[in-house]
Amino acid sequence: MASLDHSSTSDYSASNYNQTAAFVYSAEYTTPILSLLKTSIGERIVDFGCGTGELTLQIQEAVGASGLTVGIDYNNDMISKALMNGVKHAYMSDLQDIQILAPVLENSFDAVFSNAALHWCKQNPRGVLDGAKRLLKVGGRFVCEMGGFMNCIGVRIGLHRAVKRRGYEPDKMDPWYFPTIEEYQGLLQSAGFRVDTISLVPRLTPLLDGGLRGWLQLFARQTFLKEFSDQEVAAIIDEVVDMCEVDMKDKEGNWSLMYVRLRFLATLDA
Ligand code: BEZ
Repeated sequence: MASLDHSSTSDYSASNYNQTAAFVYSAEYTTPILSLLKTSIGERIVDFGCGTGELTLQIQEAVGASGLTVGIDYNNDMISKALMNGVKHAYMSDLQDIQILAPVLENSFDAVFSNAALHWCKQNPRGVLDGAKRLLKVGGRFVCEMGGFMNCIGVRIGLHRAVKRRGYEPDKMDPWYFPTIEEYQGLLQSAGFRVDTISLVPRLTPLLDGGLRGWLQLFARQTFLKEFSDQEVAAIIDEVVDMCEVDMKDKEGNWSLMYVRLRFLATLDA
C-alpha cells in the first residue's frame, strides 16, 4: 500500500486493520504483555478488544481445553474475523458497558487481558474497570497495555491544529484517552483493584505499510475525522503528514511513530 487511495482504505475493517496494523499483534510487541499475563492451563480469560483474534488464539491455546477464553470487541467485522481465525467465543460489545456475557459468567474469570484497545474508551474509562470487576473472581488479574501519556506525540498535535483551523473543537473530536500513570492508577484503585505494576514504556514503531498516511486513514478517518468529507479529510491528512515529516520520516523515506504504552498488572481486591 505505497500510495493510498482514500476511498479504499478509509474503513476500519478487519482486512484494512490486518494490512496496515499487523504490528499491533506482532510477537515483538506483545511478548511483554503476554509474559505479564502468565497464563496457566485451565484458566478462564476475557480479552477486552480482541480485534481479529490473533492474541486471543494464543491465550486460548495456552489455557488448553480445560480453560475458557472469550474475546470481546466493539467492531463486528473484527469479531467475525476472530471467529473465522479459530477463536471459539467472541462477542460484540462496547467495552465501556459490557452487557453481552451471561450473568452466570460474572465473577468467574481468572484474568481480563487487553492489548491496544482501552485508549479508545475515553467516554467512560471507569465503565471498563467496572466491567472487568464484574467478570473477575476476587484475586483475579487485570493485565493491560494501552496508549498512555504522550502516545503518538506529533500526530495528535497535528490533528488538533488542523481541526481547530477549520473552526472545530479538537478536544471534542479527539477519541483518544492516553492517561498518565497517576491518573490510571487512581482509577484502578478507586474501582477496587490493587496495582501490582504500572509503567509507561516508549516504543518507536515503524509504520511499514502506507506510512503515516495509511495510519491516519485507518485510525483517524472514522474516529477523529468522522465529521469531515473525504475531500476535507484528504486536505487534513496532507497537512498533518507535511507537519510531521521533519520528525517522523527518516532519510530513506521510512515513517515511524512514537508510541507510549501504559502497561499494568492489577489484582481485584476482596
Ligand atoms: C495505539 O495503539 O496507541 C493507538 C492506535 C490507534 C490510534 C491511537 C493510538
